[in-house]
Amino acid sequence: MKTKNKTIILGITGGIAAYKCCDLVRELIKEGADVHVILTESAKHFVTPLTLQTLSRNPVHVDMFATLAPQPANEKMSHPVDHVSLADKADALLIAPASANVIAKVAHGICDDLLTTTICATKAPVIFAPSMNSGMWTNPIVQGNIKHLKNLKYNFIDPEEGELACGYSGVGRMANTKSIKEAVLKLIK
Ligand SMILES: Cc1cc2nc3c(=O)[nH]c(=O)nc-3n(C[C@H](O)[C@H](O)[C@H](O)COP(=O)(O)O)c2cc1C
Repeated sequence: MKTKNKTIILGITGGIAAYKCCDLVRELIKEGADVHVILTESAKHFVTPLTLQTLSRNPVHVDMFATLAPQPANEKMSHPVDHVSLADKADALLIAPASANVIAKVAHGICDDLLTTTICATKAPVIFAPSMNSGMWTNPIVQGNIKHLKNLKYNFIDPEEGELACGYSGVGRMANTKSIKEAVLKLIK
């Protein structure tokens, strides 16, 4: 198994395709990967930490400040800082679905939540699987951000054409689970 003992950080953002990530987590686990999920606050509207925690068999991370709670006196910090430990232990970071918002934030170095901060901190390869309405996908600002990130060696699995959840038809549907899984396997082999 190519992914045996490999750690994949899966960042899930606030898009309707987030529900497909439940399946993606199962597929990656079947390949032997250790999957750790980071949800954005928006993503919590689409999938629950409980579902992803159960499927990934690991705690799900949302809040950047969750591990910084005061520790009992004379005790060492029991948990490391999440964005650093997740960034360091990753063999790959997969962002699926990647919203227009997260792509823009990463392209501009914005680190205002756990996911964007972890992406900024990691030395591991990062792969985005964008998913959005076709109007958003064809917006020149979105395309400019993607071009900028590709120039910086960030990886992308382009969305497919088809019927979109918003009722539109066009490009913007997240690549299928099998294609995403294969792209990740290729990246960490
Ligand atoms: C029902 C619904 C579906 C959405 N789907 C998408 C989507 O597929 N792609 C996207 O880029 N934004 C989508 N959005 C907008 C994002 O949730 C919004 O831009 C949010 O700020 C993204 O935050 P995040 O990148 O931190 O997860 C959707 C919003 C709603 C209410």
